[in-house]
Amino acid sequence: MVVFWSRSHAMAQTLLVTGGAGYIGTHTLVELVAAGWQPFVFDNFSNSSPAALERVTRITGQEIPWVAGDVRDAEALDAVFARCRDAGAPVTCVLHLAALKVVGESISRPVRYYDNNVHGTLVLLEAMARADVKRIVFSSSANVYGNPESLPYDESHRIAPTNPYGGSKAMMEQILRDVATSDADFGAVVLRYFNPIGAHPSGLIGEDPRGIPDNIFPFITRVAVGRLPQLSVFGDDYPTPDGSGVRDYLHVVDLARGHVKAVERALAEPGWLALNLGTGRGTSVLELVAAFEKASGIKIACRIAPRRPGDIAEAWAAPAQAAAVLGWTAELGIEDMCADGWRWQSQNPDGYATGE
Ligand code: UD1
Repeated sequence: MVVFWSRSHAMAQTLLVTGGAGYIGTHTLVELVAAGWQPFVFDNFSNSSPAALERVTRITGQEIPWVAGDVRDAEALDAVFARCRDAGAPVTCVLHLAALKVVGESISRPVRYYDNNVHGTLVLLEAMARADVKRIVFSSSANVYGNPESLPYDESHRIAPTNPYGGSKAMMEQILRDVATSDADFGAVVLRYFNPIGAHPSGLIGEDPRGIPDNIFPFITRVAVGRLPQLSVFGDDYPTPDGSGVRDYLHVVDLARGHVKAVERALAEPGWLALNLGTGRGTSVLELVAAFEKASGIKIACRIAPRRPGDIAEAWAAPAQAAAVLGWTAELGIEDMCADGWRWQSQNPDGYATGE
């Protein structure tokens, strides 16, 4: 029996979190519960596991209700909306985090990406309409900007993704914008993430990608625990201070707190709003490796490798809009990201499968 309640809100209401068992989802659940919200997770566990949700319960002391389901499954979505309504805590806002997210794979399997991401979002929007749910926070990506015309990227930068993953995110943003235009009561907050890394300071939840990580940070932590032999630094001849690529890394806990603020905003006001979530500071690959070595006390074996096709030299956010509209700024630094990410990986060398 799942009891729905909400500490800080007069009406019992539920936030439906698609993809809630993933890396960003689990951290967001922790912050939502801390802020008094009652989340309900809908996840197909294609790149996550229910074990992650049990860890969220260990951190928060609160059971997280969930069902396994795919966002392309209209009946499964209808059932979740009905179940929450019948329990007296209807869904009032959806956090839509469920998506495929590997850039390289999206280039080789574009139809799979458009089907999962874009078709899935359309099915979700139809189910929301049937359930009369009109507010959504959407997980987008700085990838929608494509090659920078100027840095930092601000929200008015041209949208010109260079791969199907970013293309699917840009299409979903546009769909939400069109729905908001068609219905004056509809509200969508679109969050363009920069590079979330690190983990919850408890060490109980963190990033646990299947297979060999594509992103740099989980690659580094797996080298540190001996699961991978060495890091390839993709390019040392970029026009950056040390020649390696520069990105705007932000602590996943800061990112999660940004979602809480975005939910508040989405519920307060209709319309369509896109916001960068980043720190506004760039860090190079070599600086990140050095910061990780300092935090962990472990030397990371590295080799300089050719540039990765499709990579850009530098990217960082103009974060002022999120500060102005949400009152959100990233508070944690690279040292925290490395220390917390290392705590997670060192305590869980095999991720959520550790100790099974
Ligand atoms: C990648 C995705 C982007 C996605 C983001 C967050 C690509 C081209 N872009 O961005 O769409 O939104 O992740 O999930 O995949 N690096 C190495 N060695 C590695 C891995 C990465 O040197 O083994 C370097 C890269 O060249 C880059 C930096 O580390 O300079 C960050 O790479 P990564 O973590 O993959 O993030 P992005 O490329 O920014």
